[in-house]
Amino acid sequence: MKIFTVYITRNILAPAIQIISKECNVVLNKKGRPPTRRELLEGVVGKDAILCTLLDNIDGKVIDTAGPNLKVISSYSTGVDHIDVEEATKRGISVTTTGGILTDTTADLTFALILAIARQITRGYETIIHNRWKYGWDPCLMLGSDVHGKVIGILGLGKIGSAVARRAKGFDMDIIYHNRHGRNIQTEDQVGARYVSLEELVQKSDFLSLHCPLNNENHHIINRSIFKLMKRDAYIINTARGALINEAHLVEALTKKWIAGAGLDVFEKEPPSSNNKLLKMKNVVLLPHIGSATLETRTKMAEIAAKNILNVLNDKTPTFITNPQVHHR
Ligand code: DGY
Repeated sequence: MKIFTVYITRNILAPAIQIISKECNVVLNKKGRPPTRRELLEGVVGKDAILCTLLDNIDGKVIDTAGPNLKVISSYSTGVDHIDVEEATKRGISVTTTGGILTDTTADLTFALILAIARQITRGYETIIHNRWKYGWDPCLMLGSDVHGKVIGILGLGKIGSAVARRAKGFDMDIIYHNRHGRNIQTEDQVGARYVSLEELVQKSDFLSLHCPLNNENHHIINRSIFKLMKRDAYIINTARGALINEAHLVEALTKKWIAGAGLDVFEKEPPSSNNKLLKMKNVVLLPHIGSATLETRTKMAEIAAKNILNVLNDKTPTFITNPQVHHR
């Protein structure tokens, strides 16, 4: 008899549901959209586990509403800024993630954005499909910026930041980085990255790429004063979390040409509202939060998110746990 019940907030890739339903009852939100707050609160009641996505705000109220059976919150993401980990930990509930599974996939997309914004890839495509390419090869058509040989500044040289640094090495880039909590000697040695202050990072970067998790300390870490320090021909790239950047200040920086452009996979509000000024700008490349979106990686993420649940329910250590101090009976 299956004794555990798992609430899955979104119809994620198949292996997750197959793996979990071998051992547990599954209640799945089949609506093809995230649950509303009300649906989420109803869905979690009495469950032993929740498998959520980054769109579900798992705060103290959700955790309390789930009740005393809840043992694990497994996020189908590497980031946990949507989960109140402190509240979960206080109640002895494990919070698990998909950890490093999506590292290389997200680093690939970071480079896609770097190349797309510097070499005007999306503008080039639009020029052709809108029949604006009139005379064939043109000495002055779409002059972008080189990527090779430039300075890449990585804010947050963790797993994804390091994977971006390894790619940057292949492009002969000069790699500088800043971490709020100290140096990453291993990656420094591997790719020849140099640790600098935040100020030096933003002043020297031709491409400033953000790779830190979002938390209360770094909300809007990139703001007007940072944009004013950046080079006028620099680009900002964000595949981490939208709220690391003050988006109103970014619009100002792009409008006033304090920086050359932005490549963004994430936004303060997702999807951005139709009157978001970024949507009308030419010096941006915008993507709909698809950093980890390959079939291979999302499948692996589904497997690991499911196995994390079964491991906790069976008193085993899950592969990626955010609050290892929680110990289950
Ligand atoms: C994450 O996992 O945190 C990404 O943003 C979505 O895959």
